[in-house]
Amino acid sequence: MDIYISVEGKVTMKKILFAASEGVPFIKTGGLADVVGSLPKCIDKEFFDVRVIIPKYACMKQEWKDKMQYVTHFYMDFNWKNEYVGVMEIIEEGVHYYFIDNEYYFSGMKVYTDDPKWEIERYAFFSKALLSALPAVDFRPDLIHCHDWQTGLVPVYLKERFQGGDFFRGIKSVITIHNLKFQGKWDTKTVQGITGLPAHYFTPDKLEAYKDANLLKGGIVYADAVTTVSNTYAEEIKTPFYGEGLDGLLRARSGSLRGIVNGIDYTDFNPETDRRIVRQYDASNFRKEKVKNKRALQQELGLYQDDRKMMIGIVSRLTDQKGFDLIAYIMDELCRDDVQLVILGTGEERYENMFRHFDWKYGDKISANIYYSEDLSHKIYASCDAFLMPSLFEPCGLSQLMALRYGTIPIVRETGGLKDTVQPYNEFENTGTGFSFVNYNAHEMLNTIRYAEHIYYDKKREWNKMVDRAMAADFSWHVSALKYQEMYDWLIG
Ligand code: ADP
Ligand code: GLC
Repeated sequence: MDIYISVEGKVTMKKILFAASEGVPFIKTGGLADVVGSLPKCIDKEFFDVRVIIPKYACMKQEWKDKMQYVTHFYMDFNWKNEYVGVMEIIEEGVHYYFIDNEYYFSGMKVYTDDPKWEIERYAFFSKALLSALPAVDFRPDLIHCHDWQTGLVPVYLKERFQGGDFFRGIKSVITIHNLKFQGKWDTKTVQGITGLPAHYFTPDKLEAYKDANLLKGGIVYADAVTTVSNTYAEEIKTPFYGEGLDGLLRARSGSLRGIVNGIDYTDFNPETDRRIVRQYDASNFRKEKVKNKRALQQELGLYQDDRKMMIGIVSRLTDQKGFDLIAYIMDELCRDDVQLVILGTGEERYENMFRHFDWKYGDKISANIYYSEDLSHKIYASCDAFLMPSLFEPCGLSQLMALRYGTIPIVRETGGLKDTVQPYNEFENTGTGFSFVNYNAHEMLNTIRYAEHIYYDKKREWNKMVDRAMAADFSWHVSALKYQEMYDWLIG
């Protein structure tokens, strides 16, 4: 690893700033928050000073707001107004977190709204404010690691606007695409007004895509490197099917685009120590102990109580990305099988109602829990026998990694990170950590679930060996954090 040695012979740390719209433990709507919360903790503190900046949302838990310390505030020209920018901080588990405070932009009941124009204004504000805050908090990063479209303007502002001042000159940027579907698009004139960028940025080689301004595109064009969260997704997004209209650009940038698979926090997600579950267990005793969690969950959720019943879990945002159309299509057929289904999720109304309907129809076989709950999510990862994730596309997916960690066998479609992290069961070679199918086809999925049922009921020893292998797989940040460090070294020089 390269390290800076100053003239006095002292090792100089490389300074990295993570910029994102959400991060665990402060605020979370999906896997992005897990990554922003867990990756910085695993970057080597001997060589890197990693800090994180996210908005201060009114909907954050009071305990976090109470913990925040005021750092500074100033006023910034933005969208024809003079806006307040407050900076708060928390130092937690060796990581320095900053929060951008502005009640006008971040006061809603939810993290995100359904109004695309407003979202662009909020995160354009955040991007400009976080850059403006750096001199004020006296932290000059060598590199800013941006995440998703919400921070897509950071590389743009950095290269084209803030470079004028000495402070910003030479700061590198990386953008990680967690989900190409969300790009932050709105009409060019409006976005130009909001961002304050001159008209010549809104051309097809820069921020414009298909006549609209596109913030993610800006990030991809201007960042020094682009990453995404699995190797397969890095390849998929260069094709029209997965490319969401930006496949041409991603092909053009393929020299600077790489996939680095996500890890999960092995301390938070650990069946041996997890206080949210009824019975802790590990690889040596799961055969006896894991089922006690299932028994407790059946009782808690009013399901038919039987240790032997195969229980399949789903923990997910309820959107079309996750393959719920396939599930809706075969749900009646699946419910005739000897299985139980536990669902935890919120999202699109049509899917929420679909699961509520099946819960009503199949009583003690299906439990639909249409809300957000960390506690229940851990109980599901620990209690179920299998975990279903038949995504249409999946940049990485963390839920299947959590399931593997708890010895719960994933059933997935072979796409993106699901393909890279779940090794399909091969009964002849005795290998594999889960079950998978290729095509986005409901009966292909149902057949795969039925194959899993067969192994579970008729070849229990083989099933348990698969659980052994699943629990032995290592998806901590271990390997991937090193890959990020190598990239930072390479870019910073
Ligand atoms: P995505 O980021 O696309 O939503 P991931 O699999 O990467 O998918 O991450 C999802 C994360 O959100 C996991 O940590 C999962 O446990 C969590 N999650 C999703 N829905 C819920 C819910 N209703 N309650 C609790 N946790 C949830
Ligand atoms: C996105 C993707 C998911 C990925 C997560 C974290 O939300 O949908 O696949 O795991 O980001 O990178």
